[in-house]
Amino acid sequence: MPEMNTPALRGSRILGFGHHQPSRILTNDELSTMVDTNDEWIRTRTGIETRRIAGPDDTVTSMAIEAARNAIADAGVSPGDVGLVIVASTTHRDRAPYTAGRVAAALGLGSQVAPIDINTACSGFEYGVALADQAIRVGSTDIAVVIGSEILSGIVDWSDRSTCVLVGDGAGAAVLGVSDTAEIGPVSWGSVPHLEEAVLVSGDPERFTQEGRSIYRWAITEAADHARAAVAAAGFTLDDIEVFAFHQANLRIIEPLVTALGGSSKYVVRDVVESGNTSAASVPLGLSKAWQRGELPEGVPALLFGFGGGFAHAGQVITTPVRAR
Ligand code: ACO
Repeated sequence: MPEMNTPALRGSRILGFGHHQPSRILTNDELSTMVDTNDEWIRTRTGIETRRIAGPDDTVTSMAIEAARNAIADAGVSPGDVGLVIVASTTHRDRAPYTAGRVAAALGLGSQVAPIDINTACSGFEYGVALADQAIRVGSTDIAVVIGSEILSGIVDWSDRSTCVLVGDGAGAAVLGVSDTAEIGPVSWGSVPHLEEAVLVSGDPERFTQEGRSIYRWAITEAADHARAAVAAAGFTLDDIEVFAFHQANLRIIEPLVTALGGSSKYVVRDVVESGNTSAASVPLGLSKAWQRGELPEGVPALLFGFGGGFAHAGQVITTPVRAR
C-alpha cells in the first residue's frame, strides 16, 4: 500500500484583521425610551454604553463581505491565494447559497476557495480559527479567512429588557497564513451539557432568549479553567499572555475572568462597551478595532476565549500580527 502524503511540519499565523459595523449607534438613553430600562442599570450590570444596529441594507452576508475585504487588504495577501473561507454565524438567513459561498463570490476569490459556514453561536470565531489552523497545518490551503458576522437585533424581542439591551450587530474577520513556526496554539474546546438550553435561537418568528443568570454563574466560576487549558495547550503560562480577548458578552464577566487569570495589567479587549454583544463577531470585531486604532500589542501571545449557545466554548493562544514597516 502506498504511503499517505503528509506535508512537512508547518504552522499558521494571523496576518491581519478587518471588521465592519452598521452606521446606526443606539445609546442606552435612546433604549430607555423604548423599554423600561435606564443608562445606569445597563452600565453597572453590563458595562455597555452603545451598540450598532443593522439598517435595511445591512445583512450578515454584506457585513461579512466588508469585514473579509478589509482583513484581506490588511493582511496584504492576494485574493486569489485564499483557499478557505469560514463564516461563523447564528443569525445568517439562508441555508443555501450560504454566507461563506457568497463572501467568496462577492470578493472574486476564485474557484480554489472552499467556503464553509459554521454555527457554534458565540464561540464560532474560535472554532473557525481552530479549523482554519488545522487546514493550513495539513496543507489543504496556505491562506484562510475566518469571519464572525451577526445581526442579533433582528431576532431579539425588543420588549424584553433583560435581553434587548445586550445585543449589537457587526462583523469581524482575520486572515490566517502558513508559517514556519506555530503561531496559533492548539484549541481547547468543549461543551456544557447542563446548559444546553440556556441560549436559544428558535421559534417562528425566530427569537434569541437566554438564561442570563445561569450563564453568568458558569462564566465567573468555570470559564477561567477552560481558558487556562488553552494557555497550557500552547505550552505557555499565564505570565506569557499579553492580550486577553474574551467573548464580549458582559464587562462584569470579562473583568473577573481577567482578574482570575492574573491579567489586570495586560491589554484587555473591552469592545462590549461600544458594540454590545455581537455573538460570533465579538472577538474578531474587538481585536480588529484595537488593531486599527494601533492599540493592539504586536507580535505577542493573545488568549482568545468564546462561550455561549450550544452550550459550547473554545479558546486558543494566537500571536498577534506585526505591521509591515
Ligand atoms: N433595565 C432595568 N432593570 C432590568 C433590566 C434592564 N434592562 N433587565 C433586568 N432588569 C431587572 C430585573 O427585572 C430584575 O429586577 P427584580 O430584582 O426586581 O426582579 C433585576 O433587574 C435583576 O435582573 P437579573 O436578570 O437577575 O440581572 P443580572 O444581574 O443577572 O444581569 C444579565 C442580567 C446582564 C443578562 C447577566 O445575567 C448576564 O450578563 N448573563 C450572562 C449572559 C451571557 O454571557 N450570555 C452569553 C451567551 S449568549 C450570547 O452571547 C449571544
